[in-house]
Amino acid sequence: MTKPLLVLGSANADLVVEVGRRPAGGETVLGGDTVVLPGGKGANTAVAAARVGASVALVGAVGDDGYGALLRESLESSGVDTSLVKTSARPTGIAYITVTPDGENSIVVSPGANADVSSSDVDGLSFGGARILTCSLEVPLETVVHAIGVASAAGVRTVLNLSPVAGLPAETLRQLTVLIVNEHEAAQLAADWRGLLDLGPASAIVTLGSRGAAVVERTGVVEVPAVEVAEVVDTTGAGDAFAGAVSARLANGDDIVQAARYAVKVAALSVTKPGAQPSYPTAAEVGSPN
Ligand code: RIB
Repeated sequence: MTKPLLVLGSANADLVVEVGRRPAGGETVLGGDTVVLPGGKGANTAVAAARVGASVALVGAVGDDGYGALLRESLESSGVDTSLVKTSARPTGIAYITVTPDGENSIVVSPGANADVSSSDVDGLSFGGARILTCSLEVPLETVVHAIGVASAAGVRTVLNLSPVAGLPAETLRQLTVLIVNEHEAAQLAADWRGLLDLGPASAIVTLGSRGAAVVERTGVVEVPAVEVAEVVDTTGAGDAFAGAVSARLANGDDIVQAARYAVKVAALSVTKPGAQPSYPTAAEVGSPN
């Protein structure tokens, strides 16, 4: 039986180094010791959803190597179904991440096995029992476009975290239940937030970092205030935590504003600890969804 929440996306080993500042072109800076953590936008989203109680499966790929084992262990220990994560002949994807003292990150991704996630993997899925399909864009765009088309035709609600940003066919945008973008992406796509709906999705969420989020529906815009945290340690994967928590709550029957309110709390808690997946809170740590 298919899980109520399907996440299609990448799984990466995050090679993280703290630096005082990022080097300019041609410059070398010394950083701290390298830390290897489980990451990738798809795996992060699935883990965030599972930690807050969702029944979720990841559709993705890892290599037959130590990083692949690290990712499977993180997914499985969080309760994510990995039966749809295939083992590719390519190496597991790697993200090279620098984190500065303000908690900001910059990332270069080497996709590796993620490039093998294909439309035929989607064709092998049964969508019976699925309520939500959530995608992000570190796997081939054509696979995501195909998955959203198939899910939408099967009556499954679709969520797309438009990260990293890419151009999408107009038909795919029309097949989306929720488009998640940050405010910079929103500004690239439309003159104002309501204009995002003219692109086709039934609704949109604009994430605003430390200022919370805005839910854009045909009936209007609802601003969801941020949750204050004592110290921002590392923002890596906060957007994925948000997407995972929104998807978990939508699969649970919440409306989009309720789901966004909950997800703002999850994302806020995630920035108080280092890394992506290791920083995601459990339902008990988040507290009441209302
Ligand atoms: O969004 C954060 C993620 O982006 C990291 O975990 C890294 O793997 C890259 O995919």
